[in-house]
Amino acid sequence: MEQIKMRRSIRKYLDKPVEDEKIIQLLESARLAPSGSNTQPWHFIIVKSELIKQKLAKVAHDQKWMISAPLFIVCVADISSIMENDQIILDEHSPQGEVKRMIRDTAIATEHILLEATHLGLGTCWVAWFTQEEIRPILHIPLNKFVVGIVTIGYAAEMPTARPRKSLEEIIHYENW
Ligand SMILES: Cc1cc2nc3c(=O)[nH]c(=O)nc-3n(C[C@H](O)[C@H](O)[C@H](O)COP(=O)(O)O)c2cc1C
Repeated sequence: MEQIKMRRSIRKYLDKPVEDEKIIQLLESARLAPSGSNTQPWHFIIVKSELIKQKLAKVAHDQKWMISAPLFIVCVADISSIMENDQIILDEHSPQGEVKRMIRDTAIATEHILLEATHLGLGTCWVAWFTQEEIRPILHIPLNKFVVGIVTIGYAAEMPTARPRKSLEEIIHYENW
């Protein structure tokens, strides 16, 4: 609960790199995430290059604040195991149920990174405001993969107050809907 309560989306970072051992620990937290039938469909691209960060921020609707983060982890769902044809176009409009499961599982692993980062004293923000079409070429991601999110990571240069959440009464149902 401590990390869950402390975590905030951070959009301003100190000019201080993230230590390699912390990066490995973040990836380890993702590796241990649960997934349907233990398929573990996730891959992670570590990005520190200023040029690539700039390109990613650009396709994420030019969210310039992203560039202040020294590290991005791009979280990618690998759906190749269920794709018969490598050329099938997979994007935000794809209806395939299996694809949704792979994306769900990779999202769980991504949230592990967010919480572990909080535990390590790091700030993060999950960014998903981009299209597959625009982000894939920047990182040479094949068509049978789906980018679930870019996680910006670094030491926070801001301490936002908690954003509001719905009350338990608004979201809980007992025994049925
Ligand atoms: C899937 C997902 C996508 C998001 N995409 C963006 C984004 O593109 N840009 C951004 O500034 N924040 C993004 N956020 C952060 C949300 O705005 C933030 O989590 C929400 O407002 C609650 O605030 P908190 O994280 O500080 O509790 C995203 C969060 C999630 C979970």
